[in-house]
Amino acid sequence: MTAEQARTVLVTGGASGIGAACVASLAARGDQVFCVDREIPERTVAGVEYRRGDVTDEAGVRELIDGIGTLHGLVTCAGITHREPALSLAMSDFQRVLDVNLRGTFLCARTAAEAMTEGGSIVTIASMLSHYGTPNLAAYSAAKGGVLALTRVLAVEWASAGIRVNSISPGYVRTEFMAGVLERNPEYAEQIRARTPGGRLAEPEEVAETAAWLLGTGSGFVTGQDIAVDGGILAGDRRLAGVAKGGV
Ligand SMILES: NC(=O)c1ccc[n+]([C@@H]2O[C@H](COP(=O)([O-])OP(=O)(O)OC[C@H]3O[C@@H](n4cnc5c(N)ncnc54)[C@H](O)[C@@H]3O)[C@@H](O)[C@H]2O)c1
Repeated sequence: MTAEQARTVLVTGGASGIGAACVASLAARGDQVFCVDREIPERTVAGVEYRRGDVTDEAGVRELIDGIGTLHGLVTCAGITHREPALSLAMSDFQRVLDVNLRGTFLCARTAAEAMTEGGSIVTIASMLSHYGTPNLAAYSAAKGGVLALTRVLAVEWASAGIRVNSISPGYVRTEFMAGVLERNPEYAEQIRARTPGGRLAEPEEVAETAAWLLGTGSGFVTGQDIAVDGGILAGDRRLAGVAKGGV
């Protein structure tokens, strides 16, 4: 494909936060964008096809992707978290977080790959917590570590089919949810700034622009890589990042 050709791209979890920024950015580039989320957002982007769905539902994901036809790109933003000390973490919560973040990523990537008959690019969303430990996030961190490992395997397995697979590890991102947390807790906002070499949170659009680059021809020989969009957290002192008061 040339850069001028419109791509068909599916974004999971595109109703809010990073996923919504991906939807907006890709649509603005002229891509045909499909968004699947448990919710249909109140504010939608013109031209984007919104579908209500669950990334853990095998039959639903199959039906969705079969309905789209040939795919060129996938960004897997659907994710949930759960904060709990490991000793009191219910196995049902552990499973739920693994199901959405890891199993859902695998299911969508595998089903999408079958629809990438002209080659394609898959971007998974990992986390800074794929790279270091922080208290109370055992399930989330295990899932995100799994996303990183999965990304490498799929990249190697599908390279010969012209399908690239890369991940993004965001640091702290100023999503609506995060903005609310920080407004209520200015001390926490200050902690984040202090432990981020770049001195601020990432904007969702900065993650989206990185995803757009990974989907495009400019990154045509990049596969199996993880790009941190974290203002330098992972390049710095990870112990400092992991143990600061308040967890992530
Ligand atoms: N915000 C951050 O600081 C940050 C940092 C690192 C990684 N991440 C990761 O980025 C991704 C997006 O995070 P966000 O902050 O934008 O979160 P968000 O909660 O704003 O968006 C997640 C979206 O996923 C959807 N979703 C959840 N479960 C789903 C399911 N089973 N099926 C379909 N859709 C589902 C939600 O409805 C929501 O719209 C997540 O994987 C998250 O772990 C976020």
